[in-house]
Amino acid sequence: MLEVIRILKDANKQTVSGVEIGNSIGVSKTMVWKYVQTLQQRGYLIESIPGNGYVLQAEPDLLYPELITYGLDTNLIGKKIVYYEKVQSTNDVAKEIGSEASDGTVVIAEIQNSGRGRRGCDWCSPKGGIWMSVILKPSIPPSHASRLTLMAGVAVAETLRKVGINASLKWPNDVLVNGKKICGILTEMEAEAESINYIVIGIGINGNMDLESFPEDLRETSTTIKYELGKKIDRISFVQSLLSVLEQEYIKFNTGTFDNILNSWIGLADTLGKHVRLLTPTKMYEGKAIGISEDGGLILEMEDGSKETLISGRCIYV
Ligand code: BTN
Repeated sequence: MLEVIRILKDANKQTVSGVEIGNSIGVSKTMVWKYVQTLQQRGYLIESIPGNGYVLQAEPDLLYPELITYGLDTNLIGKKIVYYEKVQSTNDVAKEIGSEASDGTVVIAEIQNSGRGRRGCDWCSPKGGIWMSVILKPSIPPSHASRLTLMAGVAVAETLRKVGINASLKWPNDVLVNGKKICGILTEMEAEAESINYIVIGIGINGNMDLESFPEDLRETSTTIKYELGKKIDRISFVQSLLSVLEQEYIKFNTGTFDNILNSWIGLADTLGKHVRLLTPTKMYEGKAIGISEDGGLILEMEDGSKETLISGRCIYV
């Protein structure tokens, strides 16, 4: 059935006959008609011209895998996409399928009913956003997992910049625009002592939503792509571009040194040079953020001139 969409998209609004479609995919024209009806139910506007054929007039504004993979230029990330109209959390699904899934599998949803943020917080995930989890299987020790969070942040910020949004990065995982959060990243992993089974990078991007779709307490501190651009974006092209950038960064991650990604992160950083308070489960640190360590940790210069590298924690600007 998905082949029918590919053929109609390739035809670029020209009519394609049922026989022609049937011949290309090896089914009867009656079967093609059944496929067309199912596709229409899925939201595709397919015009049926009696005695002539079918024209794809419009696609649904949904993150269907077949729309994302059509024209996607990656070799790994997004080659397999698991789609939900509604799901509890794409990270939860990714963790359920993580062991069997192939490297680069993406889980994506229109709405999350129980989206999760860091430190057990909820993640507001209404319609119009981009809620996705990428399953990665890099050969790295668990201690290097946080590097992937930085890598994902770089990919999201670069993709946002491509559509004209001046995104920057707040350590360790927030993507900001003028100090407001447009994306959060939640990295989770399944690992043995020495090796990683899989890593799930959960990426939540506030896409085509109005600020009113957030609870009131989040409106002051959040922003969305639609709000920043003053118009909706084509989420399919955006996801394709993000997956493509993510793959380029992942190739660098697997083949080169981390320096390359680290330098990109530093170039996009909002945090460096700022005075921050860093809350860890056991201690609070306060100092000037002066760098990022090889493990993706934040290097703080304390009042007494000493330096501390913190690998995780809640970072607050003071
Ligand atoms: C944060 O607290 O900043 C991280 C938010 C991560 C949200 C994304 S949305 C897709 C994926 N599924 C989840 O439940 N969470 C992540």
